[in-house]
Amino acid sequence: MAVKEISKDIYSVGAIDWNRRLFDELIPLPEGTSYNSYLLKNEDDALLIDTVDPSKMAEFFHNINELQVKKISYVVAQHGEQDHSGCIGEVLKRFPGCKVIANRKCMDILIDELHLTEENFYEIKDGETFLFGEEEMQFIFTPWVHWPETFLTYLPKKKILFTCDFFGSHLATSELWASDNTALYFAAKRYYAEIMMPFRKNIQKHLQMLQEFPVDLIAPSHGPIYKNPSFILDYYQEWVSDTVRKEVIIPYISMHGSTAAMVDYLVEQLMKREVKVTPYHLSHTDIGVLAMALVDAATIVLGSPTVITGPHPQIVFATYLCNLLRPKARFAGIIGSFGWGGKMEQDILQMLGNLKVELLPSVIIKGFPRTEDFHKLDLLADQIVVNHQKIE
Ligand code: FEO
Repeated sequence: MAVKEISKDIYSVGAIDWNRRLFDELIPLPEGTSYNSYLLKNEDDALLIDTVDPSKMAEFFHNINELQVKKISYVVAQHGEQDHSGCIGEVLKRFPGCKVIANRKCMDILIDELHLTEENFYEIKDGETFLFGEEEMQFIFTPWVHWPETFLTYLPKKKILFTCDFFGSHLATSELWASDNTALYFAAKRYYAEIMMPFRKNIQKHLQMLQEFPVDLIAPSHGPIYKNPSFILDYYQEWVSDTVRKEVIIPYISMHGSTAAMVDYLVEQLMKREVKVTPYHLSHTDIGVLAMALVDAATIVLGSPTVITGPHPQIVFATYLCNLLRPKARFAGIIGSFGWGGKMEQDILQMLGNLKVELLPSVIIKGFPRTEDFHKLDLLADQIVVNHQKIE
C-alpha cells in the first residue's frame, strides 16, 4: 500500500493483501483484505496505531522507512489478533525503548502470543487520555468486537476515530477512502456477519456510547476509511437492531433428490404467498453469503437428508455456523427425508441452543415426497406467512 497522509501528520502505512482468500482458515475473503496501520508523526518522534499481519512485515517497514522515521516511542495495540499486532515484536526490536500502549486484557494476550514482558507496556484504562506531542488521544474500551480486549482510539481535535476491526471490511482496494458504496456495503456487511454478529448486543451498547463522540473520519484497520461516518454507522445500527426482515433462508443439501424436491416445492409455495425466500445449496454456497443472509432473515429452514442416522455433514456445518453466529432470526424449522430411520431432526435441534427462535413444525418424510408430504409443506408455508404477519 502506498503511504498516504490521511490528516495532517497522520499517515496510512499498512498493507493490502490482494491475494488472501481465507481468514482464520475459516472465513472466505473473495475481495482480499487490507491491514491498515496508522502512523502519527511529529518532528522527531512517531506513534503507531496497530501494525499489520506478519506476512506483510517487509512492506510495513518499507512504508515506515519512506517517512524517514528515526524513532517510534509508542505503538497502540487496539486488538491482540495477529493481523494487527503480529509485527509489534519487530517494532520493539527496531525501535528500542518503544512502549506498547494497551489495556490489561490486550497486554495478557500479547504476552502469551508474542512473548512480550510487562516492561514492554504502557497500560491504559478505559477513557484515559494521552498526549503525543500536541495530539491528544483518548482510548475507548469496546470489549467484544470481537475479542474481549478491543478498544478504539479517538483524536478529539481532529475528530478521527481509529476502530481496528470495528466498522472494518475485508476489501482490497487501491482507494484509501470509501467511495464505491455498493462494493463497500457488501464487504462491510459480510465482515459484520462473519465476525461481529455474535456480539450484536455488545455492539448495540457501543454504538450508543459512541454517539457522545463527534466523528469526521472513521479509520478502521481493514478496508477503506470513511469520510462520511454515517454511511457505516447507519448500517451498523440497522444490522444490530432487533428488527428482522420478512425473509426465509433455506440452507440445504440433498443426496438423492428428495430433500431438493421438498425445498423446491417450499420455495414455490412461499413465492406464491409473496414471501421472499432464498435457498442456499450447501455444496457450493460461500458461507460468507449465508452469514450475510442471516443478518436480517426472520426465518431459517434447514433442509437435510439423513446420513446413516443423522444430518448430512454439510448441514451439521451450516447448523453449527448458524448457532455460532447467533442471528436474530425469530423462527426456525427443519425439513428433509430419511430412508429407514434415524434422528436427523433431533440432532439438528440440539445444535441450535443459542438461537432464540420459535420452532416451526418439522416436515421429515420417508423417501421421496408424496402428495401428503407436499401438503405438509403447504401448511408450513402458511405457518410462515402467519408468523411473518406477527412481525412489526
Ligand atoms: Fe482484524 Fe480480529 O482481527
